[in-house]
Amino acid sequence: MSPIRPAAVVVLAAGEGTRMKSSTPKVLHEIGGRSLVGHVVAAARELAPEHLVVVVGHAREHVTAHLAGIDPAILSAVQWEQNGTGHAARIGLDELSAQGVALDGTVIITNGDTPLLTADTLRVLTTAHEREGNAVTVLTAEVPDPTGYGRIVRAADGAVRAIVEQKDATAEQRAITEINSGVYAFDAALLTDALGKITTDNAQGEEYLTDTLAILREAGHRVGAAVAADYREIFGINNRVQLAEARRLLNDRLLHAAMLAGVTVVDPATTWVDVGVEFEPDAVIHPGTQLRGATRIAAGAEVGPNCTLTDTVVDRGARVINAVADSAQIGEGASVGPYAYLRPGTVLGPGAKAGTYVEMKNAVIGEGTKVPHLSYVGDATIGEHSNIGAASVFVNYDGEHKHHTTVGSYCKTGSDNMFVAPVTVGDGAYTAAGSVITKDVPAGALAVARGQQRNIEGWVARKRPGSAAAQAAERSAGGNVSSGES
Ligand code: UD1
Ligand code: CA
Repeated sequence: MSPIRPAAVVVLAAGEGTRMKSSTPKVLHEIGGRSLVGHVVAAARELAPEHLVVVVGHAREHVTAHLAGIDPAILSAVQWEQNGTGHAARIGLDELSAQGVALDGTVIITNGDTPLLTADTLRVLTTAHEREGNAVTVLTAEVPDPTGYGRIVRAADGAVRAIVEQKDATAEQRAITEINSGVYAFDAALLTDALGKITTDNAQGEEYLTDTLAILREAGHRVGAAVAADYREIFGINNRVQLAEARRLLNDRLLHAAMLAGVTVVDPATTWVDVGVEFEPDAVIHPGTQLRGATRIAAGAEVGPNCTLTDTVVDRGARVINAVADSAQIGEGASVGPYAYLRPGTVLGPGAKAGTYVEMKNAVIGEGTKVPHLSYVGDATIGEHSNIGAASVFVNYDGEHKHHTTVGSYCKTGSDNMFVAPVTVGDGAYTAAGSVITKDVPAGALAVARGQQRNIEGWVARKRPGSAAAQAAERSAGGNVSSGES
């Protein structure tokens, strides 16, 4: 049974998150390439709610701007003072009425700091809520350590009686290991009623959303609970230790799914992936690799060890070793590294190579073209099956503007060339080692652009007499080194 669309999801995210000790609001901290609130919103959006409201407070301009970047349809409701989760929920509902929305049906309430909660679990909650015809259904979990969480107090028959916060709990209640996840499905009208009845009569002097359960139960309504299959999903982030724990859990989850889909992850402990990363079966990831943003690794490609790829596409069978790439495209069977840096706009054609100590930026490299060693290729187009000699630089910057270099197909450029842009090397052309290419080279020509070599015979014997060099030269000549003087 698939649950109907919730009328609304309300995400509570106004808290300051003081324990993060950060100038960044808590819900904007990131794991797996997405903000904490971004994860919550992503799970919520999978349910296709009619309305999605995020209650913001601390650093609300930043949080609101961030949410607008995710989806302009997300509403923000401002809670000016953080008077508790019940107060925050009411602010969220008030914002919807202010927008002229008359809520009818199920409202999901969730927290902005529980990034591991999945849409599947939200669906389990919503389905149970609707099947049982409850006024409220709380998502709970059995946890090894319930410290800090609200405890689920059940009656002898197992029905949920109330949620008691840690600070308000008796010793007996504190021993309960079933905790409140902070995620609930409510009947919209009954939630509005119950929120009108909560008080601040508790240890923190706040309006607790959790009090609505006892209020609804005492008014004779059905109060239910859905137990999360995996308690780690409801893990809430309050400090940076928990942030790191959540990042690890999310990463494990992402790698687990990738491995079951046919990806070889040699060392899951040192492989980090973002939620937007895609793999094809038989991709191989070696240790020490970070794959970020919208990176995609195609079938049979091998990445690592020690790569950091951001928004980069690695096509089938390509090999990338000890490399950093950002917004690059690495073609089928291409080879990168060890020790390469591909910056935005790098496009390596099929079978192309960016070898050792090679940096590229805004460079389109044709099929089978190789830049094997110690080179910088910036603002360039190189055709097919060309070879760029070691230690070459595409001199693209005149101090004010960037200029483009074009090298044709089947070219062989010598080592230690400077291509001073704008300049064009025609198809099939050669350039001599050590050339500074400032003028266009016609197709099929050899360009030589360097000083002529001059040998001054006997210079060492004259200028460094008796030195080790002079003695070596003398031995080499069988004692007949000419001093150049007659
Ligand atoms: C809350 C629950 C607790 C549950 C836990 C799960 C209450 C009273 N307690 O406790 O039973 O086990 O979550 O993580 O609800 N917020 C606002 N405005 C406020 C107060 C909070 O928007 O005035 C937001 C926070 O930003 C946060 C969420 O509500 O995202 C939960 O608030 P928090 O203070 O973290 O509640 P807990 O003490 O963790
Ligand atoms: Ca919390």
